[in-house]
Amino acid sequence: MARRGTFITLEGVDGAGKSTQVLMLVERLRAAGAEVVSLREPGGTPISEKIRSLILDRANAEMAPECELLLFEAARAQLVCEVIEPALERGATVVCDRFYDSTHAYQAGARGMDDALVTRANELGSCGVVPDITIVLDMEPECAFMRAEGRGEHDRMEAEGLAFQQRVCEDYRALAEREPARVRLVDAMGTADEVAVRIDAELVAAGTGAAYE
Ligand code: TYD
Repeated sequence: MARRGTFITLEGVDGAGKSTQVLMLVERLRAAGAEVVSLREPGGTPISEKIRSLILDRANAEMAPECELLLFEAARAQLVCEVIEPALERGATVVCDRFYDSTHAYQAGARGMDDALVTRANELGSCGVVPDITIVLDMEPECAFMRAEGRGEHDRMEAEGLAFQQRVCEDYRALAEREPARVRLVDAMGTADEVAVRIDAELVAAGTGAAYE
């Protein structure tokens, strides 16, 4: 099946400024004339949004790691089938705030689930769809944690604390070393505009600058 669109994912620890950068990137791509589908994980379809509420609800403190993993994958599979694959097929640029690298960083890296098991689960949940480029917003976990703390209300994942976020951060850095062609670490310190320029430079260097044409 010929895939004509470009699939861009953004990753990072909680508080690294991902949501702001996703908004700004989507604006730039749209201004350049691309059809852009902007999504966030978990979520993006009615079924996936229901699963999101289950996952993030702090009342579900007893949730088993296996249940959590499978819920993330279930939400993702529905998003891929219902939205991402059709969008890529018609040539759109898809920008997704988190994708399967989050599952590796959080459920394997931070939660400690088996690496191979999580990788296999990711293959199932993503229905074989691989991002063309993944931008990891990299920041010292202490700084990101302070920022996320400042936002007040914490969901079930954010409530895990600093040590958890440190493991997430380490897993992302290891990922960028393992898959340098797809995964680019971008320094997330500085103003939003400065970070946006760094992201653009990576997109162009990776050849995904075509998304701007
Ligand atoms: P969200 O409010 O979207 O966080 P953020 O704005 O930081 O992206 O909540 C998603 C949370 O779920 C976040 O803490 C990361 C976590 N997560 C996983 O643990 N595994 C996953 O596969 C995904 C997609 C997210």
